[in-house]
Amino acid sequence: MSSQDSGPARVGGNRRLGVLISGRGSNLQAIIDAIAQQRLDAEIAVVVSNRPDAPGLDRARRAGIETVGLRHTDYPSREAFDAAMVGELRRRDVGLVCLAGFMRLLGESFVAAFPNAILNIHPSLLPAFVGLHAQRQAWEHGVKVSGATVHIVTAELDDGPIVRQAVVPVLPSDTADSLAARILVEEHRIYPEAIRVILDDGWTIDGRRFIERS
Ligand code: GRF
Repeated sequence: MSSQDSGPARVGGNRRLGVLISGRGSNLQAIIDAIAQQRLDAEIAVVVSNRPDAPGLDRARRAGIETVGLRHTDYPSREAFDAAMVGELRRRDVGLVCLAGFMRLLGESFVAAFPNAILNIHPSLLPAFVGLHAQRQAWEHGVKVSGATVHIVTAELDDGPIVRQAVVPVLPSDTADSLAARILVEEHRIYPEAIRVILDDGWTIDGRRFIERS
């Protein structure tokens, strides 16, 4: 994890966000709302989706935010797709990339282009239940608590220093869907908070531990 060695924040005062989505965009909406309600001092410079028909793009357009659809199947390789995304983000001077239900793995060159400046939200208490359908994985496993995690992105799936977590109890009456719905409420709360923490620059990384300076 050499790219995660301790050191200063890399966002460097740039509060321009690039949000990457693949689907409904409810976490994108939570970020839009937090900015509108002045709970988060930031600006969404662009929303990029690998699915040009993603419903979440409409949320961005309704909020007057520029959108870009880049169909990953139009590119010969992951590297080429990643390079196109980096180009779109750089062109708009994005300082922090926020993955919000973005369903493509990012390659090392993308991660290296935004060192310590890519966040992801995952619907479990990492490191438990990485990958797809984390809420269902947790429910089927029979854990008594699950939750949500915001972490800095590395080239490993659902890895990287943890910025925020929220715990959600699993109730005897839960289905995988009802658990997912309660986790989503917490996602919407902690993602804007984690973005604020990152942008405020009062943190460092030691090994894989994210440490906020008090
Ligand atoms: C969320 O559960 C998020 O944690 C996961 O993908 C889902 C995206 O939902 N990475 P939405 O598109 O933000 O509504």
